[in-house]
Amino acid sequence: MGRRFRLMDKVYGKVLPGCVNRFRGLDVVGDIAVIKVPEEAEPYRFEVARELLKHLPSVRVVLRQVSPTSGLYRVRGLEWLAGERRTTTVHREHGCVFKVDLAKVYFSPRLLYERLRIAKLVEPGEVVVNMFAGVGCFSIVIARLRPVSKVYSIDVNPEAYRLMVENIRLNKVEQVVEPILGDSKTVVESRLRGVADRVLMPLPELAYEYLPSAVTCLKPTGGWIHYYDFVKAGKGEDPEAKAVQKVSGRLLGLNRPWSIAYSRVVRTVAARTYQVVLDIRIGAHGDMKS
Ligand SMILES: C[S@@+](CC[C@H](N)C(=O)[O-])C[C@H]1O[C@@H](n2cnc3c(N)ncnc32)[C@H](O)[C@@H]1O
Repeated sequence: MGRRFRLMDKVYGKVLPGCVNRFRGLDVVGDIAVIKVPEEAEPYRFEVARELLKHLPSVRVVLRQVSPTSGLYRVRGLEWLAGERRTTTVHREHGCVFKVDLAKVYFSPRLLYERLRIAKLVEPGEVVVNMFAGVGCFSIVIARLRPVSKVYSIDVNPEAYRLMVENIRLNKVEQVVEPILGDSKTVVESRLRGVADRVLMPLPELAYEYLPSAVTCLKPTGGWIHYYDFVKAGKGEDPEAKAVQKVSGRLLGLNRPWSIAYSRVVRTVAARTYQVVLDIRIGAHGDMKS
């Protein structure tokens, strides 16, 4: 039983001892706790939130997630439950600070390991393009931890862009991270063709469609693409193998040599649905042997 599970179990034990389906999720972003409330506990959600506040001294706000992340900007529906009435906070991770507004932008503290994993792969002097940057988390962690020469950090949500600009300044990486507002495919096609050693695609809903743009973005000598996707896998099926199979079909048509160097399940997002990342190595133009 994890720490978050034990905590919610304790909270429900106090407010609603008869509730059997107690854990539906708890995220802590800065000083805001976001919980999911099981249907049977809905009438007691404000009491649950007030009780939770007593157990988390650093938390000042409790919000309830009422709908999954959705829409172009991948924002989740929220309801205020307890504490201060706000949706903005500052989250700390890997020595970086991220200002976020949970009502207006995407942010997940659960990508903590993945952000560090990618940053550790970046070589000195690389040019990185982050096609779906949100408030700039991957871009800023990379720029703070690695001596990169440039990170182009693109997002289409004006509010995410505004916060990204602020986060770049707060983390003192203005010399390295260039924020760009716009659709990443359009931005890549118009001004970032052939510039990158590494491209990040942390938006499973669009990564498959935008994969050719990511390849276009890489230098003629090749480079890396970190590709995120959602995969459904039934009993006995391997989500990573399914992701590899899906992407292979797409890569075959792109006329560049490629190989998938690494894959992992980042998290389970729903019953038998997984977020998978593939680290794809793209070879040089005209070298179909690698
Ligand atoms: C899942 S979030 C990624 C957030 C970020 N990588 C992080 O670590 O927090 C996806 C982001 O892609 C943005 N987005 C959606 N469509 C886009 C597009 N066509 N071009 C650029 N950004 C886009 C959304 O606004 C959202 O901020």
